[in-house]
Amino acid sequence: MKNINICIAGLGNVGSALVNLIENNSNFIHHKADLKINILGISAKNKNKKRVFNANRYNWYDNPIDLLMIEGKSPDILIELIGFEKDISYDLVKAALTNKINVVTGNKAMLAKYGHDLFKIAEENNVLLLFEAAVAGGIPVIKALKNNIFLNKIKKISGILNGTTNYILTTMEKENKSFDEVLKDAKEKGFTSDHESKLDIGGYDAAHKLTLLTTIAYGAKIDFDLNDVEGIDRITIQDINFVKQLGYKIKLISESSIIDDKVFASTKPKLIPIDNPIANTKGALNAINIETDQLDNLYLEGEGAGGSPTASSVLSDVLEISSESNIFSLGYSYNKLKQFEKFNSSNVESKYYLRVRVVDQPGVLSKITSYFNDNNISIEKILQIPDSDNESMPIVITTHKIRAEELITSVKKISDLDFILDKISLIPIEH
Ligand code: HSE
Repeated sequence: MKNINICIAGLGNVGSALVNLIENNSNFIHHKADLKINILGISAKNKNKKRVFNANRYNWYDNPIDLLMIEGKSPDILIELIGFEKDISYDLVKAALTNKINVVTGNKAMLAKYGHDLFKIAEENNVLLLFEAAVAGGIPVIKALKNNIFLNKIKKISGILNGTTNYILTTMEKENKSFDEVLKDAKEKGFTSDHESKLDIGGYDAAHKLTLLTTIAYGAKIDFDLNDVEGIDRITIQDINFVKQLGYKIKLISESSIIDDKVFASTKPKLIPIDNPIANTKGALNAINIETDQLDNLYLEGEGAGGSPTASSVLSDVLEISSESNIFSLGYSYNKLKQFEKFNSSNVESKYYLRVRVVDQPGVLSKITSYFNDNNISIEKILQIPDSDNESMPIVITTHKIRAEELITSVKKISDLDFILDKISLIPIEH
């Protein structure tokens, strides 16, 4: 039987679920994996906080750096679940790696921004820095990319990488509620906090995760600046109801591929046809579709957040380290990663959905359509739906494929017409 000594820094939902899991499943882990996991020490901000396990049973350290040397002994693995983008999380992980201690982390923000240093330090010190828990909670997408399909040529990765925004969008639709109402509800249910919601709603949390997927999929140097990021805060319940009539759902889609030897990486709201499984990803679930030269669609769906699902991913990394895997942390040796240029997303062609609120007066629709005609924008569908407000009228248009840049230039000009009442809502359509 193999003994593995770990320390845990950060005892929020995931850290606490991990301790609980190791306590409750120790016999099961022992029998199934021939492994005994010993928790040498734990650390968090507040020792007296109520938790799902009894913190008094473990050696407690107020300063997580003290976990790196306990009674003259270093752990085999430091588990970092504090989650700051830099500061103590970065200092702790860096100190552990420099001291030849393996690290398991769920910290996507830190890895997407500072992973370029940390993975290099890990490799120089011959230790692993594993992060299954950092992307899509309990879904084993990192190991799928790094192990199972590492020898596939990845064509495209796309999906839903943030549970909070998916919960908000699906609940808005289900309960016909506004964005603000459902965001409040999501905070009350503990899906997101005031601090986290900026990263969730703004699309940054999903883009952090996409940065890591892009690195493993294409061997790209970690570079958060390759991402185009847009969040869901401008999505209205009107948009959600209109797109439903057109056969779509709005989802926050993260996608990356290599185009013209450049990285295209985008996190943005998109209209997804309702017969696409991604459109039916409910509540706080995540879903990822991977297209390769050998697999048309590898579709993974599951719990992308939460204590137990994310702790399951942490444990899978503990198992990988204990099995003395010699697969690099990122699949590739750090020196093999290539610095890609960013593909200019205004060159991407797509169909688009537009919602325009106009003054309800004769000639408005024909003016808009003739404007589209003059600017070579081909309309696919048009809907004009009177609502209770007699003064104004929403017009919904879908276009055929057009380059983003051309459409945006035209939309800016239409926005200046005097009968346009609001900012024009513009969302690409998946095809
Ligand atoms: N806040 C994230 C989400 C979970 O809502 O998906 C942690 O990444």
